[in-house]
Amino acid sequence: MDGVTVIDHPLVQHKLTLMRKKETSTASFRRLLREISTLLCYEVTRGLDLTTLAIETPLEPMDAPILEGKKLVFASILRAGNGLLEGMLDLVPAARVAHIGVYRDHETLMPVEYYFKAPEDLGNRLVIVVDPMLATGNSAIAAMDKLKERGAQNIRFLCLLAAPEGIERFRAAHPDIPVFTASIDSHLNEKGYIVPGLGDAGDRMYGTK
Ligand code: URA
Repeated sequence: MDGVTVIDHPLVQHKLTLMRKKETSTASFRRLLREISTLLCYEVTRGLDLTTLAIETPLEPMDAPILEGKKLVFASILRAGNGLLEGMLDLVPAARVAHIGVYRDHETLMPVEYYFKAPEDLGNRLVIVVDPMLATGNSAIAAMDKLKERGAQNIRFLCLLAAPEGIERFRAAHPDIPVFTASIDSHLNEKGYIVPGLGDAGDRMYGTK
């Protein structure tokens, strides 16, 4: 699928299966999400531009590779995005963080924004938006609209699971934003859940159901 990367690394797929199992406990789900997010982060940051820095090793000077440009921004779509955020920050501790509060109305499935806080200079940075589930695509589309309104130009979207319907809607709304996911599942059910999916990601990571 154009603009969509499925991260098929065996460790990612193995951990995802454990997360999908309904008997997986809240504690295990959270731990697995943190582990898998570091692996996903590794893939979503593949291909970042490098420059060189003149350093001295104990043996001799060298021009060594280092990330180019301003610090990355990780933008978490609350609340489930925070589960991905933690592992990503383990890997890129200097990243800046944005929080976007969007919940979906359970009746209409439409996004309702209630919070937005991000670094000022989004235009000069790569913004990696995280939300475990790309379901209808409504929340992700709304989050991207808001980030672009605040100046973001270089955005990637990272999720754990995506529904084909959500990918289609998202790519139609934001064709410039590449999507990274560990799986494209079968479909959305009538309640807007991804099937087979893993249930409600927020509830599973925080034990709220
Ligand atoms: N959000 C979830 O947490 N799970 C789904 O299946 C769809 C949206």
